[in-house]
Amino acid sequence: MCGIFGCILRKGDAAPIIHAALKRLEYRGYDSVGEATIEEGKIHVKKDAGSIDEVHQIRNLDNLPGRIGIGHTRWATHGAPTQANAHPHVGCLEQPEIAVVHNGIIENYAELKKELEDSGHIFRSKTDSEVIAHLIEDTLTNIRREKIKSKSTVHSDFERAVLSAVQRFQGSYAIAVLSAKEPDTIICARHESPLVLGIADDALYLASDIPAFLPLTNRVIYLESGELAVLKSNTFKVTKIASRSEVFPEPKIIDWAPEMAEKQGYPHFMLKEIIEQPSCIRNTLRLQDKYLELITTFMDRAREVIMVACGTSYHACLAASYMFSKLSFLATHPVIASEFVEQHGKSVNIDSTILTVSQSGETADTLAAVETARQRAATILGLTNVVGSTLTRVSRVYIGQQSGPEIGVAATKTFTSQLSVLSQLAIRLAKKRGKVSQEEIDLLEDNIERIPDIVENIIETQHKKVENLAKKHKDKQCFFFLGRGISYATALEGRLKLMEIAYVPSIAFPAGESKHGPISLIQPGFPVFFICPPDDTRKTLIGNIMEMKARGASVIAICEEGDENIIDLVDDYIEITKGIPEVLSPIPYVIPLQLFAYHMALERGCDPDKPRNLAKSVTVK
Ligand code: AGP
Repeated sequence: MCGIFGCILRKGDAAPIIHAALKRLEYRGYDSVGEATIEEGKIHVKKDAGSIDEVHQIRNLDNLPGRIGIGHTRWATHGAPTQANAHPHVGCLEQPEIAVVHNGIIENYAELKKELEDSGHIFRSKTDSEVIAHLIEDTLTNIRREKIKSKSTVHSDFERAVLSAVQRFQGSYAIAVLSAKEPDTIICARHESPLVLGIADDALYLASDIPAFLPLTNRVIYLESGELAVLKSNTFKVTKIASRSEVFPEPKIIDWAPEMAEKQGYPHFMLKEIIEQPSCIRNTLRLQDKYLELITTFMDRAREVIMVACGTSYHACLAASYMFSKLSFLATHPVIASEFVEQHGKSVNIDSTILTVSQSGETADTLAAVETARQRAATILGLTNVVGSTLTRVSRVYIGQQSGPEIGVAATKTFTSQLSVLSQLAIRLAKKRGKVSQEEIDLLEDNIERIPDIVENIIETQHKKVENLAKKHKDKQCFFFLGRGISYATALEGRLKLMEIAYVPSIAFPAGESKHGPISLIQPGFPVFFICPPDDTRKTLIGNIMEMKARGASVIAICEEGDENIIDLVDDYIEITKGIPEVLSPIPYVIPLQLFAYHMALERGCDPDKPRNLAKSVTVK
């Protein structure tokens, strides 16, 4: 997730406006930043790796000439944070004609890049986004070469070039483009990635999100996916990319306070991040094939695979260990990072492969475990959300979870994004090892594509029910979270959420363990969550539910919709869409638990975004 911005002023300097706007988009990404403006038919660019303040300190982002410009604050997905990889990207010309900023993932960038390189284009970065600048430049050249002036007076060459280029993209994009030859025009377009226009009396703005220009105007036009807008000094035009037909959207008046706008109107980042999980999971389904292939090749050849992580990331590893075992017939060992040296410090060796999972890529315990493993010549693989983090530098190969900055201290979209990547690795490894039938692979791949919509449906249909459940149990002093098999990982994650943001003591363990001690805690009204997808463990789990009910527990089941056998047994239930394969179940089944923890925090007067005693990234051991 990155932040893009653009503005055309009637008069005055665009650069300081762009700089301030990017600061208001910093929550969308902050590992590199850049701006481009036009003055007297010349494009001026400043960009570098580093936070907005760091780059401004070095390069003075306010000091660019011209009243028209674009800007970008980056959250790296392809290519580490470097000056070359920072946006705006320009084409090949020494004196750039085109400058582009982009938020999204161009899935087919590799083939487009090869086509352009074969026709002589020279790329400067490792990003997918740079291909946009070269493709528009190349298309413009072809349009001029054909000397086919625009048959319609509606579209200029510049607009035709952008219209033509965007139709070749696969994936998601929100772009803004400048052309030195059309110095009073910005063209922007979106597919899936967000893009809004701000309409002021003396200026026009475009941005990934409203906060960028909310202090300047509250008249907003939400561009629809598949639309392109041409902004000129005192007018704008919106076109459907596919049909090239003009549309006339009405501006809306936004009455949010700027701070509220950063959360897109949600009261907390945590709720915003729970609700944006479908789009994050869609992003993980656009992973570059080569990274999946590389990681699974190393895993396939390994003598032993140890997964190392902390907290939520450890829970993702635990769930993944069931995926790798059931699908790829590969035994993996999930280990809590702070225990790694004690457990494996002496045995890890050159034949060991360490799959390290860390959203921040900076967790001290995790990096300490990695360092021990590296010293003993083990192969380090990484899964992280922060490209350019320490983990990406110490990993032989890494893959990004691509879920954009997670501001809330409690990891939510991290868990489901990590699981989406890990399940794709397990499926690919299963294919590689020939352990499951093509029919099973097809079913899994079809279902993984359904997951974002399923998560969206759960949030829409079950949110209110979960909120009421929190009201019902808001004064309870302890909760159990139980599951069997892969659902034990889901239970652990639900417990962690409730503990860390609502400060409720909670216990999670495999449901089969109840009778080996913990059930002694049960007394009438004691709340017990059961995670019960219709998998092989369901039958025995029903017995565990009966055990709890017999002692007066208040049982809450997260079960498949319409599962009468469970529903008839329990006090409350949350329904999950039918037909999700067991190995993918933690992704949808955790959603109600995230929402429950969030609403319990509200009921108990806690701040879900800033829980006491906790930091977003634990960089101390
Ligand atoms: C999860 O809600 C917590 N914030 C915490 O357990 C976190 O998952 C853990 O510190 C690991 O962080 P990492 O993924 O950045 O390494």
